[in-house]
Amino acid sequence: MTDASPEPAVPAAFDFSRLGRWPDVEAENLQAWDAADRLLLDTAAADLAAAAGGGTERKGSGAVVVIGDSYGALTLGAAAGHGLTGLRVHQDPLSGEQALENNARQLGLDGAYRPYALEPALVDGARLVLLRLPRSLDALEEIAGLIAAHASPDVRVYAGGRIKHMSTAMNDVLARYFGAVSAGLGRQKSRILTASSPLPPEDLPAPRFPVSQRHDVGLAVPLELWAHGAAFAGPALDIGTRFLLPLLADARSAERAVDLGCGTGAITAYLALTRPQLQVIATDQSAAAVSSARLTAAANGVGDRVTVRRGDALAGFPDASEDLVVLNPPFHIGATVHAGIALKLFADAGRVLKPGGELWTVWNSHLMYKPALNRLVGPTREVARNPKFTVTVSTRR
Ligand SMILES: C[S@@+](CC[C@H](N)C(=O)[O-])C[C@H]1O[C@@H](n2cnc3c(N)ncnc32)[C@H](O)[C@@H]1O
Repeated sequence: MTDASPEPAVPAAFDFSRLGRWPDVEAENLQAWDAADRLLLDTAAADLAAAAGGGTERKGSGAVVVIGDSYGALTLGAAAGHGLTGLRVHQDPLSGEQALENNARQLGLDGAYRPYALEPALVDGARLVLLRLPRSLDALEEIAGLIAAHASPDVRVYAGGRIKHMSTAMNDVLARYFGAVSAGLGRQKSRILTASSPLPPEDLPAPRFPVSQRHDVGLAVPLELWAHGAAFAGPALDIGTRFLLPLLADARSAERAVDLGCGTGAITAYLALTRPQLQVIATDQSAAAVSSARLTAAANGVGDRVTVRRGDALAGFPDASEDLVVLNPPFHIGATVHAGIALKLFADAGRVLKPGGELWTVWNSHLMYKPALNRLVGPTREVARNPKFTVTVSTRR
């Protein structure tokens, strides 16, 4: 892997150190931008400059799209460095959207972009796409398919990431949708793939997403899971969730339950199917999760008792308002293993539960969350344990 490539030509005007991660976890070892962001901006610099200087029909016309920006480095680097406005931006996590909004406000750049869902309008007629490569090939495939089907035929996609998170399978995914795909030189452990010449509609693969899968082995009721590309576990049933579901028969009775970090909505649909009077609020900060959970609820015939919200933890839920919260917490933040996010979700569940309310959760046993659950929610009992997972119930004091 060579590290030889041009010196950073990122616009000097942009000071990455002014970017923050809030409301995402802030920590010494976590920063709001990285070398892949800088390499993307450098690699695309000539195209960004051309978009900015290409006359009124280009400038501010939304010809430039940013997908997967973590905290705003790409969007605000392009806006500040090239005077671009009208950038169209999609970020899957709500915390990324909020961090970009916050950083844009701090830098006086809030008018430079507009947030979009992962929908045709995001890329319609786009000529330049800056993409932070997602970890999941399915997420990349859904994005690649959308760009190829809706962007301008002369679109150029710069897709960048950290080399340790990239694989040649990513080139293969892009090559299913674009006639030209090439890999640039590595720099500071980062690399850019460039894709252009989207295939004509008749040669594009049939749209694959959202995908569905039926699960009936070992469950009291069969479940049909639907998933967009970026949703956790895709249409598969996570093995921790599979361990948890049958145990929920012993969760307290409640008129309403909250599925915190609902992903594709497996817990939501299972609870609604096994408790025919129950209302469920499913919530997740991922846009793909929220769209997937809505599809899952409808496919299992429980859409009328399920409300799906996009939100950070339980923001918007009043204190002491809920009887039952169920959670299979994430333990990765992007690529960084970090327990902070699970602790934040436990604390918010503790805040939102009524006295006597229960948090049911499943976690990798090595994480030893019991002391944290005791502290943040209330007395915590182990319900079951297998070689990998522990299921606990914590009762709010
Ligand atoms: C381990 S997955 C579980 C998904 C689903 N409940 C299941 O059992 O298959 C954790 C989920 O938490 C979501 N998540 C992560 N951080 C979150 C946050 N701050 N607020 C809400 N949801 C979050 C992720 O998007 C992901 O869908």
